[in-house]
Amino acid sequence: MRQAGRYLPEYRAIRDKLSFIEMCKRPDVACEVTLQPLRRFELDAAIVFADILLPLEPMGIGFHFAPEGGPVIERPIRSGRDVKGVRAIDPRTELDYVMQTLRLVRREIDGKTPLIGFAGAPYTLASYVIEGGHTRDYAHVKTLMFDDPATFDRLMELLAEVCAGYLLAQIEAGAQAVQLFDSWVGWLGPYDYERHVLRHVRYVVDQVRGHGAPVIYFANGASGMLDLVSQVGADVIGVDWRIGLDRAWEQLGADVAVQGNLDPLTLLGPPAAIEERVADVLRRAGGRPGHVFNLGHGLVPQIDPDNVRYLVDAVHRLSAGARD
Ligand code: CP3
Repeated sequence: MRQAGRYLPEYRAIRDKLSFIEMCKRPDVACEVTLQPLRRFELDAAIVFADILLPLEPMGIGFHFAPEGGPVIERPIRSGRDVKGVRAIDPRTELDYVMQTLRLVRREIDGKTPLIGFAGAPYTLASYVIEGGHTRDYAHVKTLMFDDPATFDRLMELLAEVCAGYLLAQIEAGAQAVQLFDSWVGWLGPYDYERHVLRHVRYVVDQVRGHGAPVIYFANGASGMLDLVSQVGADVIGVDWRIGLDRAWEQLGADVAVQGNLDPLTLLGPPAAIEERVADVLRRAGGRPGHVFNLGHGLVPQIDPDNVRYLVDAVHRLSAGARD
């Protein structure tokens, strides 16, 4: 998660010359940035360099990144009329630059490192387009959800359709696994998750499964409702760091693979602190088949790349016994 990015000097060197969106839209650059972390670290997978917000532009929802960081949606969607102005897209053609990046990366690493594609889950995308950007309380999202549930639902359906098509197009272009990011779903209680979100995620997963690539669903902040999260039917559930992996797995059931769940800010710490916490995650995974070691959320810019190297090597060293 944010495997590439501003914590790497070689990323910042390119970013000094191009905007983030320009980087995403140039397949040669996006391919290069995808490969940067693989050159430094012994990673077991690559994740394509793109962003969950890219489908919004062809859908008619303009956005940009503010100079101080963070996305800004130009005209937030807050009514039935606003939703009527949003259109479904054909991701194969309208997000062709992402497909080209996937094809380029796949050619570079084929047979060595598997490639992951991704998309934002419907609720997380809906929260951006309704709020218009970052928020502390999701007041606009909840207002629409409670005042006009039919409109909220219509928007979720549209986003789910786009999301499914986008992931399928990525599999066709070479993604060998796909991850759905539900970064902001943890601000909902279980009642509204079940009522307004679950079926849309299940729809995406149903459409995408069975096309040769496992589907990973990362529901950030959802450790209080893992029973519901497991009902989406994904092959792999990504778990954040706020719950012990052993407890999470008990709630998810033995049939699902689990990805997680080191607190990403552990990487601010000295190697000994990292080692201790990696060991704890692995102890809780208990050698079960289907554990994919990962961070519980994304890397942040202030992290020292040497600590990332230490982490990757520690995971391989400490899990070698469990893998044999
Ligand atoms: O992991 C990777 O290397 C793949 C690339 C990737 C990015 N965004 C690149 C990026 C992935 C998987 C994402 C997903 C994404 N984007 C999510 C879901 C994951 C999560 O963190 O919860 C979300 C919510 C977004 C939306 C988004 N994009 C935000 C909120 C921001 C601003 C963040 C900030 O710190 O300024 C972005 C921009 C972004 N996406 C950057 C990168 C490398 C930073 C862009 C820059 O260089 O200025």
